[in-house]
Amino acid sequence: MSKRVALVTGGSGGIGTEVCRQLAAAGYLVVTTCLDPEREDIAGWQSALEADGLAVDWIQCDVADFESCQGMAETMLARHGRVDVLVNAAGITRDAFIHKMAKHNWDSVISTNLTSAFNVTRQFIDGMREQGYGRIINISSVNGQSGQFGQTNYSAAKAGLHGFSMALAKEGARKGITANTVSPGYVDTAMTAAIPAEVREQIVAQVPAGRMGRPDEIARVVVFLAAEESAYINGANVPVNGALFTSF
Ligand code: CAA
Repeated sequence: MSKRVALVTGGSGGIGTEVCRQLAAAGYLVVTTCLDPEREDIAGWQSALEADGLAVDWIQCDVADFESCQGMAETMLARHGRVDVLVNAAGITRDAFIHKMAKHNWDSVISTNLTSAFNVTRQFIDGMREQGYGRIINISSVNGQSGQFGQTNYSAAKAGLHGFSMALAKEGARKGITANTVSPGYVDTAMTAAIPAEVREQIVAQVPAGRMGRPDEIARVVVFLAAEESAYINGANVPVNGALFTSF
């Protein structure tokens, strides 16, 4: 069989890059979506991975926009034929207490972090059903499980993402399709670097592990869930948070 094909949204981000790197190293042909090739320096991203012998491609797409996702899917299928693994990793923060939150910052977080999962999955679900195989992995957050100051938008979107996984898991179970969530804690990326330093230090002080997570610690869980052998793990939410939030 030819290489399995993986599509990772937000693949040039902190966690996304490591997901792409590890999937490619595990033998997948990996494609990422990219909103703004120049701002994200996607050419530099691609050459850095290719320099390490990893096969990666990218397609421009606004995951918050359904029509843009339709166009991306046409390109994806024309170039690579199918999608076996879909990782919905695109995400943004627009933190503010709700009494200060602008409506557009609610809308942009919900559409980029949650509606995007529908917009992208909808494009490839028929193909996965036809081929009788699919691995869908949604990147949520500890803050979708526990809530966080300044994140009514983000926490709502990330909690919603696991609801999406659970329903999708039931729909796909007899078609060889699994859907799972990975919920990272505070991981050392540009997103957490943007938290005011004092607040970030307070948060990290509350992490029982005593440190932030690393992107590779998230990516290894994604690769595990993406494997053919993980067929019976379906509808799960895997926390990777240094024990910041535990639940039964
Ligand atoms: N824990 C306890 N108290 C907190 C708090 C927290 N995490 N965050 C804010 N507060 C308290 C402040 O101490 C302050 O208290 P006082 O009024 O008694 O002094 C009060 O809330 C107001 O805080 P600010 O002065 O900071 O208010 P602000 O309006 O300027 O900003 C904020 C509020 C946007 C929430 C800001 O504090 C902030 O950015 N916090 C970080 C939010 C966060 O954790 N974001 C995660 C981003 S990374 C991510 O999302 C990745 C992931 O998946 C984990």
